[in-house]
Amino acid sequence: MAEDINPWSSTPKVSIEKLIENFGIDHFEPQKARFSDAPVFMRRNIVQGHRGYDQIADAIIGKKPFHVLTGFMPSGHPHLGHLMVMKEVVWHIKHGGDGFISIADREAHAVRGLSWEKCDEYAREYISCLYAMGFEGEIYAQRKNNALKDLAFEAACKINFSNLSAIYGFGPETELAHAVSVSMQVADILYPQLAAGIAPTVVPVGIDQDPHIRLTRDVANALRLFLVEDRGTHISIRAKTASAEAIAAVAKAFPGAKKYEGHIDLPAGYNAAEVDGIVRGIEQQFGGFGFMLPSSTYHSFLMGFQGGKMSSSVPDSLIWFDDADQDVKKKIMGAVTGGRQTLEEQKKFGGEPDKCAIYQLNKFHMQEDDTELKMMCEACKAGELMCGTCKKETLERVRAFLADFKEKRDEVAHKVAEW
Ligand code: TRP
Repeated sequence: MAEDINPWSSTPKVSIEKLIENFGIDHFEPQKARFSDAPVFMRRNIVQGHRGYDQIADAIIGKKPFHVLTGFMPSGHPHLGHLMVMKEVVWHIKHGGDGFISIADREAHAVRGLSWEKCDEYAREYISCLYAMGFEGEIYAQRKNNALKDLAFEAACKINFSNLSAIYGFGPETELAHAVSVSMQVADILYPQLAAGIAPTVVPVGIDQDPHIRLTRDVANALRLFLVEDRGTHISIRAKTASAEAIAAVAKAFPGAKKYEGHIDLPAGYNAAEVDGIVRGIEQQFGGFGFMLPSSTYHSFLMGFQGGKMSSSVPDSLIWFDDADQDVKKKIMGAVTGGRQTLEEQKKFGGEPDKCAIYQLNKFHMQEDDTELKMMCEACKAGELMCGTCKKETLERVRAFLADFKEKRDEVAHKVAEW
């Protein structure tokens, strides 16, 4: 596993398909059918995989509480490659989620060597983008959040070095602070439940972050004092690490409960979900957390203008939100496309939108209208739409987007100043 996904690599080579096969990630496809107003990232299969999204869809549809959290490492300016995850967060907030954003300054400092001042400077840029897009909720910096740091310590009690080397390939040369930044991220993912109550939490991320999600789900399990299981004929409540007092309190909460050594059985007639909620509450009174397992969504990466992923390590692969107009133009007009070698071949065989950075940019962000996007795709494949024209049209859309986004960011400047 360690060699399969490295969250700190700038060129992740992970296939969601492979992870779905080998690591228990589920296809997102069946989830989108549950939403009559599925957004672009669902309709166009940009979000491809998930863990435990059912409970999020249930909460959205049933109008029950849920949380949404993601994190940004403030190690550079935000760019178009960050836009998808921001949209996912904001969409979930608009659909009833409590929003949380972690500014992963500890990770940026430990792993990328950034000064705290630089972290804060970049953080403010991310924050202005988020507010400009309609984010509402809590945004915190890891290093300034004491409850988070305490939670990270509790999480660290459940993580050992063999976990770290199996999951991330950490070895004797790995700095301790890098390992600490892992427990910080685990704490980030559980933090909404600490701050705003036990509820399902969705964490939209790129697929490279899945190791953190898996680790967090393991830690959340390990932190539980009890395990509630619906056995069909009865409900079993197993005391994992609960004290005798906590076990007695659980037994007392349910009339008819039978208390055994290390577990309690409830007779038929109890609702497992309700029992689970009550047990989590009792767990909290006895020093536990009662966390639910967090869920995640995995979106595919936006293709960079040079092919490959859009990544800060290749400046020509991306557009910063405050890029100068001549650079935006240069990068778009110079992008790799799915076009053929010659005009004749292009007319004869048509282009290949799947391999085209410009088409992908339209699909992800610049063309909201499905019919227009389809027409563009078909005209390209039919050899009717040439790359030059398509790039010019896309450039205009990008310019309009950037101008509008800049205006929106200016409007929320006061919120950023307060942060
Ligand atoms: N590690 C993430 C990155 O490199 C940032 C991050 C920190 C994060 N904490 C998080 C992402 C919690 C999701 C959830 O971009």
